[in-house]
Amino acid sequence: MKIIGPFKQLVTLANLPLRGKLSDGELEIIADGGILINDGKVEKAGSFQKLKVEFPNVEVDEIAGEQVCLPAFVDSHTHICFGGNRANDFAMRNAGKTYLEIAETGGGIWSSVQHTREASDEQLLKTTLERINFLISLGITSIEIKSGYGLDVDNELKMLRVIKKAQSFTKATLVPTCLAAHLKPKDFEGSSEKYLQYVLDEILPKVKEENLAKRVDIFIEKSAFLPEESKYFLLKAKDLGFDITVHADQFTSGSSRIAVEVGAKSADHLEATADEDIEFLAKSETVATALPGASLGLGEKFTPARKILDANGILAIASDWNPGSAPMGNLITQASILATFEKLSTAEVLAGITFRSAFALNLEDRGTLEKGKKADFVTFKTDNFQNILYQQGSLQVECVFIEGENVLVKKN
Ligand code: NIG
Ligand code: FE
Repeated sequence: MKIIGPFKQLVTLANLPLRGKLSDGELEIIADGGILINDGKVEKAGSFQKLKVEFPNVEVDEIAGEQVCLPAFVDSHTHICFGGNRANDFAMRNAGKTYLEIAETGGGIWSSVQHTREASDEQLLKTTLERINFLISLGITSIEIKSGYGLDVDNELKMLRVIKKAQSFTKATLVPTCLAAHLKPKDFEGSSEKYLQYVLDEILPKVKEENLAKRVDIFIEKSAFLPEESKYFLLKAKDLGFDITVHADQFTSGSSRIAVEVGAKSADHLEATADEDIEFLAKSETVATALPGASLGLGEKFTPARKILDANGILAIASDWNPGSAPMGNLITQASILATFEKLSTAEVLAGITFRSAFALNLEDRGTLEKGKKADFVTFKTDNFQNILYQQGSLQVECVFIEGENVLVKKN
């Protein structure tokens, strides 16, 4: 056992509802707080002084200076296993080129597929781990990672095996998702329906056999897969035992309905979701995930996060870090910016990147600091937790604890 503290403010995020709006006044903030840790889990969060009195024989890890502490962050949507770079797509978009024109001149998702297929396992592992370490340096200790730049049996399995291997090199929790239904690859002969059948028959059984992912994702959009074929695909994937998540309503509304109808764990993007679809989604158990990094990368509008929360939905916020639409990767900056445009409270943003995004990944063992939860937490050198979002990502984390151990080696 170990006591860590004192923290000027210990923001536990405990006892908050999974869904709906939140005000900062609802946050439990323990002044001069401490955490008692037992076997990598929180045994008790409370006053540092009182913990020391109550547990006089327990080792104490003193924190220097004024720091605030809160649960570590959970990024529930990334594509950080990829080869190549799409800076030219970014430049072309900003010069006014359309998605189709960019794809026709060799850019778009297909270009990342080619670079990812060409990359060796070692190269992919190395760059994926570099991105994981960047996310850890932001205080993110649970990271979802999608395949989706392989798009055939060998290359989808290659990506998922790399993600599995990456897990053995990091203390962060990695949650792999099979996104073989990202796009019909240009070298597939047959319709998009046939391709989805190929994913069901040839890829998902192997993913299951090798235990490479428990989740399946699809991109439902005019340029990718159509609603009806997607629904059929998702129900079959569900029958195979996979949890479902969907790239929904990014440019056109409608697919978040499918996500809800198939009982998806989350519907992500939602930039184009129509008001009646927000109501439908907000009444369901499906987490609505905003991806402000994609809005910033593409210059598109933000997910209607305010409306989702006001309609009592479950709002998570994730980075969508990928080489095309969301190259930044800084979830804290993105979530802070989303807050300014969507008028979100600090509590709503923090909930969206901790216990609410953890719920989308079935990781209910984390995201708050209370008895029994995983002792993953972050500290910032400041006296007020509101400074974290106020500084929009420029206030950097001081320590990142995973199961009670500081994993961050700071360079300065
Ligand atoms: O989440 N929308 C589809 N997929 C990704 C983009 C992937 C890419 O452009 O490489 C997204 O935005
Ligand atoms: Fe995505």
